[in-house]
Amino acid sequence: MTGRHPNPLVTRRAVLAGAAGLSGAGLLAACGSPTGRLLPPSGAAVRATERARHHSGRTVTARLTPSAGALDLGGVVVDTWSFGSLPGPTLRARAGDRLLVDLANHLPAPTTVHWHGIALRNDMDGVPGMTQEPIAPGAAFRYDFTVPDPGTYFFHPHVGVQLDRGLYGTLVVEDPAEPGDHDLEWVVVLDDWVDGTGRTPDQVLASLRAGTSASGMGGMGGMGGPGMGMGGEGGSSRLLGGAGDVDYPHYLVNGRVPTSPVTLTGRPGQRVRVRLVNAGSDTAFRVAVGGHRLTVTHADGFPVQPVAGDAVLLGQGERVDLLLTLGDGAFPLVASAEGKSGHGLAVVRTAGGAAPTAAAVPTELGGRVLTVADLSPAASVTLPAKRVDRSHDLLLGGSMREYRWTINGRTFDEQQPLEVREGERVRLRMRNATMMFHPMHVHGHTFAVVDGTGRPGVRKDTVVVRPMQTVLVDLDATNPGQWMTHCHNVYHGEAGMMTTLSYRA
Ligand code: C2O
Ligand code: CU
Repeated sequence: MTGRHPNPLVTRRAVLAGAAGLSGAGLLAACGSPTGRLLPPSGAAVRATERARHHSGRTVTARLTPSAGALDLGGVVVDTWSFGSLPGPTLRARAGDRLLVDLANHLPAPTTVHWHGIALRNDMDGVPGMTQEPIAPGAAFRYDFTVPDPGTYFFHPHVGVQLDRGLYGTLVVEDPAEPGDHDLEWVVVLDDWVDGTGRTPDQVLASLRAGTSASGMGGMGGMGGPGMGMGGEGGSSRLLGGAGDVDYPHYLVNGRVPTSPVTLTGRPGQRVRVRLVNAGSDTAFRVAVGGHRLTVTHADGFPVQPVAGDAVLLGQGERVDLLLTLGDGAFPLVASAEGKSGHGLAVVRTAGGAAPTAAAVPTELGGRVLTVADLSPAASVTLPAKRVDRSHDLLLGGSMREYRWTINGRTFDEQQPLEVREGERVRLRMRNATMMFHPMHVHGHTFAVVDGTGRPGVRKDTVVVRPMQTVLVDLDATNPGQWMTHCHNVYHGEAGMMTTLSYRA
């Protein structure tokens, strides 16, 4: 080991050794950077932070049994891995509740669950080899943590490309203090689907790596050079540039293909809160409801200044809550695969009459599309302006010669952790030097996207960085531990575009 930074592989083992209560002290000392000792996932700092969280005194229990088996996507039957249904169960808790989730792994492979967007105790974050040992086939694990902040979250494994199978579900954390200005609520989960249609996600990744992706979108089509993601099989998006690496046969809304959609029902004039989750792996979705305007009220769980538009754009891992006032009739809710061909569909119904066809394309999709640039935080969640104590640059890159996506020129195994200290205001400067968008996610924190005036803006845990764009995000380092920071395109993450936000003492 040379230089300021330890070998991250050794570090990850050392972190786990500490987490498992083994005699990790020597390892940690040996691997600590000269500027500080690593704060391990189940160390004293993590325990103290968990104790200091507000506890409601309530406990919510759930069971998750990931297993292999057939699922019916609406006439399309696939062999896949899921939590028993698609989407998986929706878990509901209130802010301050303790969540006790018993996972029994019936998969033929190791797995974990990551609680995407939750500022939870680090040792429950579900990152194998870093915050916990992978859960072996046949083994069990109990997730036990407090959910501090209300909002719309989701959960998925953090092992390989398992997210691109059917292993995801929504976690709704209700706000006891927010009455909710709506009559009903729908959870709507979007996904791009390939598993069981002749290729598994692992095979898709292998062919991307081999450069032989049969129905891929040109593999490195999103990278620099001639074509640069603009001429791939799947084309590109005016809003996002290169649209993705994988050409999916199906796009799903709540686990169904458009020819056999789910129906979401209500009465004319009712106000609906739609909790919208993009659980896709390689696809951004543009969502609209025919005949309706929509108002974005929350982004990644946190409230925003309500803003109205015709459609909304979500990258992988992003969530928005929408308010809809229902019209009279039957309407298509369409999730168009941004820059690709195909879409997902649900039917919104408040009256009799013919359902929209599978090919329905609401004109709203071409109207005002809301993106992160349109969002500003509600006053209650605005991060106070403060001097930045520490900045890190994240140059998002890739190589044309192999399927390799990088942060600061390094893949995860070569990565230098982003060191932070508890209590600091930290700025991450993410610059995209590729021709494809990257939905960048930080575990365990909800950052503020720095706005055009340099002030902390909308609160998010996942933000789309467009080609050649620089996005600054600020966060307060108040949740000690070791936190993955990565592209939520699961193929980019697996091909290297991951690093660690590493608390040191
Ligand atoms: Cu939803 Cu590390 O990701
Ligand atoms: Cu990416």
